Amino acid sequence: MIIRKIACIGAGYVGGPTMSVIAQKNPNIQVTVVDLNQERIDAWNDSDLINLPIYEPGLDAVVAEARGRNLFFSTDVNKAIDEADMIFISVNTPTKTYGKGKGQAADLKYIELCARQIASISKSDKIVVEKSTLPVRTAEALKNILENTGNGVNFNILSNPEFLAEGTAIADLHNPDRVLIGGEDAESINALVSLYEAWVPKERILRTNLWSSELAKLVANAFLAQRVSSINAISELCEVTGANVDEVSRAIGQDSRIGAKFLKSSVGFGGSCFQKDILNLVYIARSYNLKEVADYWEQVIILNDHQKSRFAEKIIQTMYNTVNGKKIAFLGWAFKKDTNDTRESPAMYVADHLLDEEASIVVYDPKVSAEQIYRDLDSLGTRSIEENRRLLKVFNDPLDMIQDAHAIAVLTEWDEFRGYDWKLIKNKMKRPSFVFDGRGLLDSSLMNSLNFTYYSIGSNVK
Ligand code: NAD
Ligand code: UGA
Repeated sequence: MIIRKIACIGAGYVGGPTMSVIAQKNPNIQVTVVDLNQERIDAWNDSDLINLPIYEPGLDAVVAEARGRNLFFSTDVNKAIDEADMIFISVNTPTKTYGKGKGQAADLKYIELCARQIASISKSDKIVVEKSTLPVRTAEALKNILENTGNGVNFNILSNPEFLAEGTAIADLHNPDRVLIGGEDAESINALVSLYEAWVPKERILRTNLWSSELAKLVANAFLAQRVSSINAISELCEVTGANVDEVSRAIGQDSRIGAKFLKSSVGFGGSCFQKDILNLVYIARSYNLKEVADYWEQVIILNDHQKSRFAEKIIQTMYNTVNGKKIAFLGWAFKKDTNDTRESPAMYVADHLLDEEASIVVYDPKVSAEQIYRDLDSLGTRSIEENRRLLKVFNDPLDMIQDAHAIAVLTEWDEFRGYDWKLIKNKMKRPSFVFDGRGLLDSSLMNSLNFTYYSIGSNVK
């Protein structure tokens, strides 16, 4: 089976970078990424690469190489489906906000819409690839829809979940730990394998059955998030015992059975997927009556929520139990460094908590716009749009922002924050000058020598 044309439905954080790299590495295959969102597609097509809709280091160079050659972005979904031999579904699969499974199950309405559209448009056989993260056994539902609403053509369904992390998406795509392909039809699997073989070593391309592939994606995210919650649980214990969480991480990470990665204590994990995917795993376990399994994984989320509110409480308590009218400067709003993505970012929950106490918050993030910050805050629905704008202000210049601040809170681990002139910052702030480091980012000896009242998550004994 030879693949000449690929379509990808969904031009988001996964569809955009993934297809850009597939196109870069397979110059003879035409790759068209489609989306309903005209603004997003226009941004992908912008001649000025600085305006791409997502920020990822190295993405601009990949797009510059492939776009217009064999990589295209369009809103013409039907045309792309009609022409493609292989269709990736890369649309969002958020947590349901209504009905059965509200707050836990994945909302599959966008997936189903895609399946129905593919079925109605297709006039030739297609391979349909699940790229979105989906509950185990979704391929069964997809197959049903495609076969029952189609025009009598054949659809082969594969699962090919994506493991890239934001901020390192291009490096992860260029050099993946593994590519996972689940499916039943050997010819279709081989066709997808051949795309990846253009740059991924054979032994890193894993083949499994459909259900293992779908489930492995949820489990990978659950294990990663579990490590963060595990070390965050220990961070609280460190604070009361005099241990230092970074030292504990280093000590346990040296054990090759444990490994050093993903042991950085923080204000909590964010991002669009960890919470959503664990909630989904919990929902699936409960739907099979596996109570203990569900409770076990749910604890990862409970601990993460605790870590975010614990950080906000720590700020309030340290500042003499009141932040009313006090200026607290947030360094960072994105859920991690090197991305402009703010979905489920701990920053918005910490801000919400402090705004409840009538703090006056100012925010600077090198890549997140003021519009996005207000959108995030408004989406929580805690207070009116006017009040959010009255209590929280966004700055483009961190030094301007810090003038007369009572406290600084580090919410994202952007490298530039470490390099600031902290002596100058100290001089601009009110006394005593508090720094609450939710990422363990800053140099504690420098902070102490400059006479900041410095709290770093998991390392201060009080
Ligand atoms: P996203 O919201 O950034 O992008 C999804 C896009 O799909 C949106 O632009 C939306 O307009 C479009 N869309 C929705 N329905 C459509 C339709 N019927 N036709 C055309 N376009 C449609 O989401 P994302 O972050 O790219 O995530 C996509 C999937 O990949 C999710 O299942 C997610 O869990 C998974 N995933 C995400 C990441 C990540 O780092 N963000 C990593 C691995 C896997
Ligand atoms: C994560 C996974 O790492 C990817 O493999 C997966 O494809 C993706 O989810 C997904 O399915 O969406 P991502 O959320 O982009 O990627 O970023 P991570 O690097 O995993 O960070 C997630 C959160 O955990 C961030 O808020 C980060 O700050 C936090 N984190 C991470 C820590 O607090 N400590 C750590 O040691 C590592």
